[in-house]
Parts: sequence; structure tokens; C-alpha cells
Amino acid sequence: MRYAQITGWGKYAPPLLMTNDDMAKIVDTSDEWIFSRSGIRQRHYSHISTGDMAWLAAEKALAAAGLDADDIDLIVLGSTTPEEICPNTASYIMNKLGASKAAAFDINSACTSWFYALNAATDMVRAGSINRALVIGSERISLAMDWQKRESCFLFGDGAGAVVIEASEQESGLLASKISCIPDSRECLRLPDWGMTPTHLTDNLFISLDFEGQEIFKSAVKGMSDAITDVLEKQNLSADDIDLFIPHQANIRIIQTLAKRLNFPMEKVVVAIHKYANTSAASIPLALCDALEEGRIVPGMKILTATFGAGLTCGAGIIQWGDRVEPLGVSDASVADYEGTVFDLMADSFVHYGVDAKHLLSK
Ligand SMILES: CC(C)(COP(=O)(O)OP(=O)(O)OC[C@H]1O[C@@H](n2cnc3c(N)ncnc32)[C@H](O)[C@@H]1OP(=O)(O)O)[C@@H](O)C(=O)NCCC(=O)NCCS
Repeated sequence: MRYAQITGWGKYAPPLLMTNDDMAKIVDTSDEWIFSRSGIRQRHYSHISTGDMAWLAAEKALAAAGLDADDIDLIVLGSTTPEEICPNTASYIMNKLGASKAAAFDINSACTSWFYALNAATDMVRAGSINRALVIGSERISLAMDWQKRESCFLFGDGAGAVVIEASEQESGLLASKISCIPDSRECLRLPDWGMTPTHLTDNLFISLDFEGQEIFKSAVKGMSDAITDVLEKQNLSADDIDLFIPHQANIRIIQTLAKRLNFPMEKVVVAIHKYANTSAASIPLALCDALEEGRIVPGMKILTATFGAGLTCGAGIIQWGDRVEPLGVSDASVADYEGTVFDLMADSFVHYGVDAKHLLSK
């Protein structure tokens, strides 16, 4: 049998932080409210593009796998926030890496994009059409935050995570998966006009998240529960057989509700939302990298993952880890830091959404 083992991993968390206290200087909110409702303490905001964050995470993943860029057959980027639609961002990453033999495409299923991408690339490796792929999730979602909407602007952060998957005869990698899309649920989570609509011809394009938090919350729990039941059945496993659960990081209360439904102790759950908030397509690979760095993943472990996002798309999967939990190498790829504060970085966005934050700027 042919499998698609994860052999490399890497992440990029931008250096600038927007804490809940920072946020309370811009909108009518508080650290106490945000943390108690969502589990979020802070989020990273990026001064570099989705493509550059993805490239940095990919360089680290390649080094961890001990591979050169030319060893890669395919680059798949999962993202909702590419700078441009055509050409795709995966081809930008391919050129930055110098992965001259790789095919390149993007997948957009919102927060589930990385998991959908892992599905596609795993199936291609297992079918034998490719041997090695880079699967990346990267989002610069801070630019879509509407500072007039206190109910959603605190939820998201920027970042990137990547894995390398390689053909292997060892039973490992994504062994079972379920992806789905809940009918009639497109309206509750949207970035209207983010794409080729007539409004792109006007100068005054506002990309502002439409968001029905409680509706999404309920659908997310149901969609992920159903997907998890499906993959456990496919593998003939129960929740007790799972060693670690890495869910999409959208809200700690969604994660806790899911864990309770599954009868799954929180000690076995990877929680990263307090550090990163919801980084959309990057959330699961970021949490996976953290779990590896913290020594929470051991060889042969059975890892459950579950995710949801706009669409509403859902998914769950069972990943069996291989033999290696240490990176083979370390990448020294880097970018220059931003010279300024997080408020300076977001200054144009504050102006765009009509928030007076001039007093917070350092320049
Ligand atoms: C967003 C979310 C945290 C809100 O939690 P909630 O318990 O549903 O809160 P509500 O929307 O009911 O708001 C409760 C009150 O807090 C207020 N409120 C909303 N945002 C606030 C903020 N940032 N600070 C302070 N108060 C706020 C509301 O105005 C409301 O006040 P009211 O009772 O006087 O009307 C929660 O619904 C959620 O996480 N949803 C899913 C997350 C998600 O979809 N992520 C993206 C998908 S991948």
C-alpha cells in the first residue's frame, strides 16, 4: 500500500501582536469579554503578504523534511486571502522556493482550505501521480477586519503553516477523511465583494466580514461532530483510540463543546487560539507545529483533526504520525522586521473603516 507520510513541518507567526487590550483601544470591548467568549488573548498581524508568509513556512517544512525545493512535485496553497487570484499564489511560492519541478495550485474553502488541500495532495500521492507535495495554509486576514464590527473584528489573526508529505509504504499520514459542505449556509459567513464582482470596478471597495456568530457556532459543532463520527467509523476506531485532537481554532467554547460531545479529555486537545486567534486556513498546521515543538506528538500517534469554515465547509481526518518528530534541518529564510507598531501597520485599515486611531500611531 502507498501512503502519504508527513515528513516536514514549518510555521510563520508574524512578529507584531495585537493584544485584546490593544483592541480595546480601537473598539468598545475588553480583554475579559473577548477571552471569556472566545479563549483569545492576542493575535499576530502580518506586515508581509500571504504568499511570503507561506514561503517562509514552506522553507521551514522543506528543511525539516531534509529536502531541496527541486524534490517537490506539487505545491498546494490553502487560503482565503491571496493578494491576487491570477496567477495563483502557489506559483509565487513555487518561484520563491525555486521548486522548478513542482505543479502549483490554490484551494479556497475558507478556514478548511488547508485540510481540503491535504486531502487533495494525499490522494494524489496515494494514487501515484506525485511523490512529494508541500501543503500550505496561509492567511493575511487582518486586512479584512471591519473595525466597525466589534462582534467579529477580534476573532482573526494572520499566520502560515506548512507540511511536506511524501510517498511511503509505512501506514501513516492522512488515513481517513471526510470533507463536506453544509447546504444553505453560505450567507452566515462571507466576505462580500471579495472577488470578481462589479464593485471591483469602483474605487471604494470595502471588504467587510458578514458574520452570524451563533449560527456558525451551532453548525460548526454539528458539522465537525458528523465528520468525526464518519472518520472514526471508517477506521473502526472510538474516541479512546485517539491520542491527540487538533481542531480548527475558531473559539475555545466550540472546541470544548466538541470535546465534551466526543467524551474526549481536554488534556488530549491542542489549543492555540489564545496565542493566534483564528488564523483560518493556517490554524491547524500552526497548532500542529506547536504540538511538535512542545513534544506532544510521538511516533506512531493517532491524531484526529476537525475543521469548518465559510461555505459552510467542514472536515475531519485521522492522521497517523510516522517515526520522526524532530526536524532534519532548520531553515534560515527570513524577512526584515516591520519598523513600527501594530497600530502603524493597521493605520490605513483604521482610516478605511472610519476609526480615529491617529493618537495611537508612533509615526
Ligand atoms: C463571535 C462569538 C464569540 C460571540 O459570542 P456570543 O456568546 O455568541 O455573543 P453574542 O454575539 O451573543 O453577543 C453577546 C453580547 O455581547 C456584545 N458584544 C459583541 N461583541 C462584543 C465585543 N467584542 N466586546 C464586548 N461586547 C461584545 C453583543 O453586542 C451582545 O450584547 P447584547 O447582549 O447587549 O446584545 C461566538 O458567536 C463565536 O465564536 N461564533 C463562531 C466563531 C466563528 O464563526 N468563527 C469563524 C468561522 S471559522
